[in-house]
Amino acid sequence: MGGWNTVVGMVNGLMKDLSITVPVALHVDHGGAVDICKDAIYAGFTSIMYDGSHDSIDKNVINTKIIVDYATPLNISVEAEVGIVGGTEDGVTGGVNYASLKECKMIAATGIDFLAASLGSVHGDYAGEPNLGYDEMVEYSSKTGLPLVLHGGSGIPDDMIKKAIASGQAKINVNTEVQKAFSKGIRQYIEEGKDQITTGYDPRKVIGTYAYKNMKKTITEKLTLFGSTNKA
Ligand code: 13P
Repeated sequence: MGGWNTVVGMVNGLMKDLSITVPVALHVDHGGAVDICKDAIYAGFTSIMYDGSHDSIDKNVINTKIIVDYATPLNISVEAEVGIVGGTEDGVTGGVNYASLKECKMIAATGIDFLAASLGSVHGDYAGEPNLGYDEMVEYSSKTGLPLVLHGGSGIPDDMIKKAIASGQAKINVNTEVQKAFSKGIRQYIEEGKDQITTGYDPRKVIGTYAYKNMKKTITEKLTLFGSTNKA
């Protein structure tokens, strides 16, 4: 997308030009290195996820604390991950590794604002039914005093999502379902031959006719399911 400054400029411009009044967090998801997160903070991001879940817990704690020390004076929220959310994201595939309460408490002590504790969800498509740890969600959120973040929100049945929210999940990440809604719209447009009629090849039409609307519909449905509508 160009880089951090490009994204910050675009989002700030959209907020101004479209007179957006709801609070907007500009969030880095899965920031994989301290320097990357630092650059995002200084470019103007307002929320950072440092993901050190692939390192040892001790290294994860040290690096997360560095990010907290940069972010907190600037009023920027920090999310950290413990355990490994399985599945495939950005071409990288891994298995689920449940977070332990001990490690969650260690990372919570760094001063983070929300905790992505891996408790059975996976990025991308599920092979069968998700196996979510609801009891652990209740226990971990109450014992760390932190709101939880559910990664791998695509493909989880609605009743499970509601139970996860009731068990302490306060932020839910959904990517795959939105990407699929987009691709489906592009496919429909091309299959209907719309790109071959007059100026149908214009990318604004290719994207705007179905793909954009499909994404919007998916996002609206998720906001309704999560109980987030009119909550900002
Ligand atoms: P899905 O792609 O499975 O929805 O996961 C998204 C996610 O957790 C991004 O951090």
